[in-house]
Amino acid sequence: MKKLSARRRHPLAAVVVLLLALAATGGLYTAFAPADKAQAETVAQSLAIDEGKKLYAVGCASCHGTGGEGSTDGPALAGVGAAAVDFQVGTGRMPAQQPGAQVPKKKVIYSQAQIDQLAAFVASLGAGPGVPAKEQYNPEGADIAEGGELFRTNCAQCHNFTGKGGALTNGKSAPTLEDVDPKHIYEAMQTGPQNMPSFPDTTLTEKNKKDIIAYLDVVNSDDSESPGGLELGGLGPVSEGLFGWIFGLGGLIAVAVWVAARTAKAKKS
Ligand code: HEC
Ligand code: HEC
Repeated sequence: MKKLSARRRHPLAAVVVLLLALAATGGLYTAFAPADKAQAETVAQSLAIDEGKKLYAVGCASCHGTGGEGSTDGPALAGVGAAAVDFQVGTGRMPAQQPGAQVPKKKVIYSQAQIDQLAAFVASLGAGPGVPAKEQYNPEGADIAEGGELFRTNCAQCHNFTGKGGALTNGKSAPTLEDVDPKHIYEAMQTGPQNMPSFPDTTLTEKNKKDIIAYLDVVNSDDSESPGGLELGGLGPVSEGLFGWIFGLGGLIAVAVWVAARTAKAKKS
C-alpha cells in the first residue's frame, strides 16, 4: 500500500494518468460516434419527419388530431405504423372526405415522396409496422398453389375465392383485389384496414404473404387460363349453381320433352 501511494506521487504519474484518460476518451469516441452514412440517414429521416408534420397539419390533423391522438372524426394514429399510412394514402382512401360506412378509394392526391414523409411523421408517433421492401412483396418465385390454399383459408370468406370481393354487414364490403398493387396487398395484411383482421408475421409469415400475392397475381391476370373450365365470373357457388340450374336442369327437361314426344309418335303409328 505504501509502495503504491509512493509511486502515485511520482512526478510522471499525473502525465501517465492524463495520457490514459485521453486514450480512453478517444477509444470511446470512435466506438460510439455514428458513422458518416448513418449520420446522414438520421438527418434525412428527421427532415422527412418535419416535412411530414407540415403536410399532416394541413391534410390530416383536423380528423386525427394535431399529435395523432385521434378525434371524433378519425382514429388515433400513434402506433399504426408507416405501412398503414402508405396503404391508406397510397390507395386514395385517406384523406377521407365525408363520413360513411366505409371510406372509399379515390384518386391519390399526394406524391409517393409526400406519402413517405407523412408515413415518417406518423411512424415517429409510435412504433408500428414499416413499409415493406420490394423483395418482401415481389411475387416472383413464390408458391402459387400454397398461396391459393392460404387465401381460401384466410381471405376468401370476405374477398371471395378468386379475390373478386363481396358484401359484408352494415353497408360495408370487402373490395375486389384485382389491380391492387402488391405492396398494398402486403400492407393490407400487415395493418388490417377497417373491418379486415390484421395478419402479422406470427399469423402469416413473410413467405405466406408472398405466396398469397403470387396467387392473386395469377388469378387476376387477364391471360391466365381458368384451370377448372369456364370461369363464370369467378364468383363461386352462386354463379356456378345458377349455371347448373339453367343449363343442367334445362337440358334434362329438353331431353324429357323429346323422349315424351317420340313415345307419343311411336304409339300413334
Ligand atoms: C375527414 C376526416 C379524415 C381526414 C381528413 C383524414 N382521415 Fe385518416 N381516417 C379517418 C377515418 C374516419 C378513419 C377510419 C377509416 C375506416 O375505418 O375505414 C381513418 C383511418 C386512417 C388510417 C388507418 C388507421 C388504422 O388504424 O389502420 C390512417 C393510417 C390514416 N387514416 C391516415 C390519414 C392521413 C395520413 C391523413 C392525411 C393525409 C388522413 N388520414 C386524413 C378520417 C380522416
Ligand atoms: C373479415 C373480412 C376480411 C378478411 C378475412 C380479409 N379481408 Fe381484406 N378487406 C376487408 C375489408 C372490409 C376491406 C376494405 C377496408 C377499407 O376499405 O378500409 C379489405 C381490404 C383489403 C385490401 C385492400 C384492397 C384495395 O382495393 O385497396 C386488400 C389488398 C386485402 N383486403 C387483402 C386481404 C387478404 C390477402 C386477406 C387474407 C390474408 C384478407 N384481405 C382478409 C375484409 C377482409
